[in-house]
Amino acid sequence: MSVPRRPLIAGNWKMNGLRADGGSLASGLSDLMKNKTDAVFDLAVCPPFTLIAAVGDALAGSAISLGAQDCHPAENGAYTGDVSAAMLADLGCDFVIVGHSERRTNHEETDTAVQAKAAAVQAQGMAAIICIGETEEQRDGGKTLDVVKSQLAGSVPEPSAAANTVIAYEPIWAIGTGRTPSTDEVREVHALIRAELTAALGAEEAVGVRVLYGGSMNPENAGDLLALEDVDGGLIGGASLTAEDFWAIAQSCV
Ligand code: 13P
Repeated sequence: MSVPRRPLIAGNWKMNGLRADGGSLASGLSDLMKNKTDAVFDLAVCPPFTLIAAVGDALAGSAISLGAQDCHPAENGAYTGDVSAAMLADLGCDFVIVGHSERRTNHEETDTAVQAKAAAVQAQGMAAIICIGETEEQRDGGKTLDVVKSQLAGSVPEPSAAANTVIAYEPIWAIGTGRTPSTDEVREVHALIRAELTAALGAEEAVGVRVLYGGSMNPENAGDLLALEDVDGGLIGGASLTAEDFWAIAQSCV
């Protein structure tokens, strides 16, 4: 990857973990990171809402960032069960994942809704990790680049900047399946994302936006994926639930 972008390895814990699990995973990672004074990557974990405060405590003093998995676009108000970006910033989050395919599918989130959430995250001084990616049917139908282009245009707020925007390309058919696109396929999509960001944000900002790959990334395939130009890190699901695997993926950054 190019010089101005430091790789970001982010763990999306999804709906996993009780307090004891979250605390020990976070302190295990914290110990590893504290002993790694020459890390060439940034590390972040995005636990479920219930664990954010405890994980934040366990990470205190380490260089690992805290993130969340979703937020409501409004700052506060009568939205039972929802959590605002302001509340997440208040807990010390630096990142919020928005538009994950599981939310787009299970909660019918549209690009417009995702864009509003991303803007709320940015307005609180955090970075939005905006997820996009095609279904298997779209990939088989040769529509991947069109889908990615349109999700990007609809989901990234204007204006956005390198400091408050991360894109995660997650092919839906690769999530939790053990299957990944070929390195050529990943390279092609990430190059398109960079070109679209350049057109939308200007070259100066676009060159600094980190574009992550997500979907069945593991210690075995991480090296090949993370070595690709325009792949600036990973958004890791299953393999982020053990410190050993998550750390091994981070070690693959060169
Ligand atoms: P897996 O790594 O379990 O495939 O999940 C990827 C993902 O959805 C991260 O957001």
